[in-house]
Amino acid sequence: MPDANPSPVDPSPIRIFDTTLRDGEQSPGASLNHHEKIEIARQLEKLGVDVIEAGFPITSDGDFEAVKAIAGELEHATVCGLARCVPKDIERAGEAVKDAAAPQGGRVHVFCATSKIHREHKLRKAFDEIIALSKRSIEHARQYVEDVEFSPEDGSRTELNYLVDITAAAIEAGATTINIPDTVGYAVPEEYGHIFAHMREQLPQIDRDGIVLSSHCHNDLGLAVANSIAAVQNGAKQIECTINGIGERAGNAALEEIVMALRTRGDYYAGFTTNIKPAEIFKTSRMVSNLTGLTVQRNKAVIGENAFAHESGIHQDGVLKHRETYEIMDPRDIGVPESKLVLGKHSGRHALADRIKDLGYRIDDDTLQKVYDRFKQLADKKKDVYDEDIEAILDVLLGAGRQLWELAKFSVTAGSDETSVALVELRDSSGEIRREAAYGDGPIDACYSAIQIITGVTVALERYETRAVTGGKEAQGEVSVQVNHHGRKVRGRGLSTDVIEAAVKAYLAAINRIKTTQERAVAATSPDADSETVAQP
Ligand code: KIV
Ligand code: ZN
Repeated sequence: MPDANPSPVDPSPIRIFDTTLRDGEQSPGASLNHHEKIEIARQLEKLGVDVIEAGFPITSDGDFEAVKAIAGELEHATVCGLARCVPKDIERAGEAVKDAAAPQGGRVHVFCATSKIHREHKLRKAFDEIIALSKRSIEHARQYVEDVEFSPEDGSRTELNYLVDITAAAIEAGATTINIPDTVGYAVPEEYGHIFAHMREQLPQIDRDGIVLSSHCHNDLGLAVANSIAAVQNGAKQIECTINGIGERAGNAALEEIVMALRTRGDYYAGFTTNIKPAEIFKTSRMVSNLTGLTVQRNKAVIGENAFAHESGIHQDGVLKHRETYEIMDPRDIGVPESKLVLGKHSGRHALADRIKDLGYRIDDDTLQKVYDRFKQLADKKKDVYDEDIEAILDVLLGAGRQLWELAKFSVTAGSDETSVALVELRDSSGEIRREAAYGDGPIDACYSAIQIITGVTVALERYETRAVTGGKEAQGEVSVQVNHHGRKVRGRGLSTDVIEAAVKAYLAAINRIKTTQERAVAATSPDADSETVAQP
């Protein structure tokens, strides 16, 4: 093992600058409305981020209003608006953050490209002109706020002596944070780290006057997190990053990966801490993914669906005996309720029995053997066997698979400024139709309220996911829900070419599962049975 990493000179926490709402929103396919931005900003503050780049106010009135509203509301995080070295940009960004509610005030982030390729082909300006323009812009921004950040865009591809010169000029003009972006994700860790060491060596005022150096890494070569950490090891005191690593092209450095790398390897990165509350990571990740529509890849580090899933029997057995055999992080630390053992053909009876128990079922050895035989047959055909598959096997074996309530028909009204009203008709097991109307916050909420009235089952919706399972105009949409019924988590899935119908079917599947379980519990004679489990047949 290599020697431990040298501790930072300044042991204060590394500032986490989140740019999900600015660089992240520049991800192809992501776009957030005003309310969604505010909701995410509130959650980012709960997560403990130090700075939130809430938008690029000159780009639209919507962005301006969102930055202004977020700055006016958040009481702890510094809210920042981005601006080019253009007077109008700086005015809009300054106006948006100058009345920030946080006691330390708002921040304007000014940037200007400095690399040769940008100077010659984009700006068509000589370096001296760029320095003068940057200085003027920083001074202009200082008229609005005391906290001004400057970024030499494409900094990592800028000649080092130019980078030193523009940094000195920016500090003189009043910038308090200097961010060195790896705009196109071209840098490698040693090289990127060296830039920070070199700047501190050449410009003693950085450490002397408490100027914050900052990293901003893009992930074009998959090195964004490694580069950010290299910067920190060389004296950067701020990391710019996004939730789920979303951002331009291949994205930005992922906040959750940086935070958990520094924390999990605290033995190696001793003294490098952040103010992030890990327990809020999973929730924040889900929120950003749901609101932007950018789904997180299953095997994404830290927060991907498979990050805490174990498929092979040997791994599963190890985790069940002692979690740390195959898990370096405790999923509960980042707010994931429990590790997920994906069952597959390599899984053993032990893992299956444990999962069945977690799902709230109590079965004897004979039934377990029957479930196991069916499970093995299924696993031969299907690589991953999910909880829903196991529940389906159990439902059939225990006779609990009946559709107590079936969707007969539904209609619902929806509109941007109106409350939705749903009329839902369900058929019960005797064939009788029951219908109810209900209001809701959107069409799906209205349908769910009507279903709760008809079935008499009240649940809290915990998870709602939708995805297209086929392509084209007639794409089948699949909705998966997880509801909480008196502490028991129950899932349901629905499929339809109409996404609302798929949502209704998924909800109904979960309610049917609860109902059948309740019926069986009432009828149970087994001494093992309790009100939340399925008893022996
Ligand atoms: O990647 C980049 O260079 C940027 C700047 C605006 C900081 O996002
Ligand atoms: Zn960027």
